[in-house]
Amino acid sequence: MFSTETYVNRRKKLQGQVDAGLLVFLGNNESPMNYEDNTYFFRQDSSFLYFWGLSSPGLAATIDLDSGTETLYGDDLTVDQIIWMGSQPLLKDRSVAVGVQNTQSFADFSKTIRQAQQQGRQVHFLPLYRHDNIILLSELLGAVPSNLKHLASSEFTKAVIAQRIIKSPEEVGEIEKALAITHEMHTFAMRNARPGMIEQEIAGAMEGIAVSHGGNLAYPIIFSTDGQTLHNHYHGNVMQSGDIAVNDCGAEAPSAYASDITRTIPIGGKFVGAQREVYQIVLESMESGIAKCRPGVKFKDIHLHCSKILVDGLKSLGLMQGDTDEAVAAGAHAMFFQCGTGHMMGLDVHDMEDLGEQYVGYDAETQRSEQFGLCYLRLGKQLEPGFVVTVEPGIYLIPELIDMWQADNKLSEFINYSEVNKFRDFGGVRIEENILITESGQEILGKPIPRSIADVETLAAG
Ligand code: GLY
Repeated sequence: MFSTETYVNRRKKLQGQVDAGLLVFLGNNESPMNYEDNTYFFRQDSSFLYFWGLSSPGLAATIDLDSGTETLYGDDLTVDQIIWMGSQPLLKDRSVAVGVQNTQSFADFSKTIRQAQQQGRQVHFLPLYRHDNIILLSELLGAVPSNLKHLASSEFTKAVIAQRIIKSPEEVGEIEKALAITHEMHTFAMRNARPGMIEQEIAGAMEGIAVSHGGNLAYPIIFSTDGQTLHNHYHGNVMQSGDIAVNDCGAEAPSAYASDITRTIPIGGKFVGAQREVYQIVLESMESGIAKCRPGVKFKDIHLHCSKILVDGLKSLGLMQGDTDEAVAAGAHAMFFQCGTGHMMGLDVHDMEDLGEQYVGYDAETQRSEQFGLCYLRLGKQLEPGFVVTVEPGIYLIPELIDMWQADNKLSEFINYSEVNKFRDFGGVRIEENILITESGQEILGKPIPRSIADVETLAAG
C-alpha cells in the first residue's frame, strides 16, 4: 500500500474530472472454485485498489460529487467468521489508512444506490466483469444484467483511465518489484528446462517462485514448446533436445502491480538450424521497436516498424518476398505475426482492459484497424511520458493458418508458400520487455534477463 496521501490525492483529482452525481466503485468478492467456501485466489479490482487501497472481499465505495463525501462500505467479521478466518482489523480502522472517514455496512451501499436513483441523480459506474457484481448492480438499478454494460459511465471511465494510464515513480517502483520476481522465474527456467522434463515441472516451479514472494502470477503462465500458439496454457509436453520453448510469464508484486516478460529458450542449451536466424530477427525487431518508443510516437507505428523488420528477416530466410512496406500495408506479415507488438501494463497485465481498449489504446486520432493481425493491436495511440508498455514481437508458424491462406493463394506475391511449408513444425519465438516512456525516450524496466543468443545459451547450457 502507498501512503494515505497518495489515495487521498488520487480521489481528489478524480472528483475534479466528473461533473455531478455519485461515483460507484465495486470491489471484488471471493470466487468459489468448486463449492462456496473453497475459493480461488482473491484478487481485488484494480480501480478499487488504485483509489481505495484496500484488498479484501466484500467492499464497495462511493464518492458523492455533490457533497464531496467519500464512503467505504463493508461488514466486519462476525464471531462465526472469526472462528474460521481469524480476526481482521475493523473497516473503520483500515479506512483511516487510506484517508476515508466514513464507513458504513454493505447493506447501506444498496440503500445509497437506490436512494440516488430515486432522486434522479446520476449513478456513475465503471464497466463490470465479475458476474456477481453485474447481478448486484443490475438489481439495484433495475437493469437487465446483459444490458448493464451499456449503462456504464463513459465520463467516469475516461477519467479513471486518464489517471491510471500515467504511472507515478512509486508505481514504477512496484512494477520493478514485480520484475525482480520475474527475473528469478525466467532465469530459473533457462537454467533448469532440460530434455526429458515435462513443461509443467518448469511452469509449476515458476509459479511457486511468484507465490513465494508474497504476490502471485500476473496471468497464467505460457510455457510451451508449441510456442506458435500465442496463449498456450497447456504444459504437458515432454521437452526434447532441439525444441525451443516460449516462456511468457510475469509475477504480480504483493501490491498487485504486474510484469510481463517473454524469453524463448533452447531446450538442450543451443539454438539449432533456423532457430538462430529466427530468434535474431525477432530480437532485432524488439530492440529496434524499443529504441523508437518515445513521447509523441504512435504505438501503431512502432508495431508497423517491428513488423517491417520481421518481414525483412523473413525475406532473408526466403519465406517472404517483394517490397517490405507493401507487404506490411497488405497485412502479409500477419501470416507470421498475428498479434500486436504490445499493450499497456500497470496494475493489470493488460492494463485497464476491463475499462475498454477503445479508450485505453485508441482515441479519435487513432482508430483500431479491421485488418487481420493489426486488429489485435491493443494499443495504437501516441505514447506519453509515464506510460508503461510491453514490446513483444514474435514469429509464429501456425500450420492451420498456413493451410488456410495457401488454399486461397492469399498474398502469394509476398509469401513464398513452398518455403513456408518447410517451417510448418517450427513453433514460435517471442521476446518481450516492459518499457517506461520517459520525457526524452524510454527505459527498459527490470534487471536485465539474458536475451542475446550467446547469453541465453550460456545460461541454458550451464
Ligand atoms: N503475456 C500475456 C499477454 O500479454 O497476454
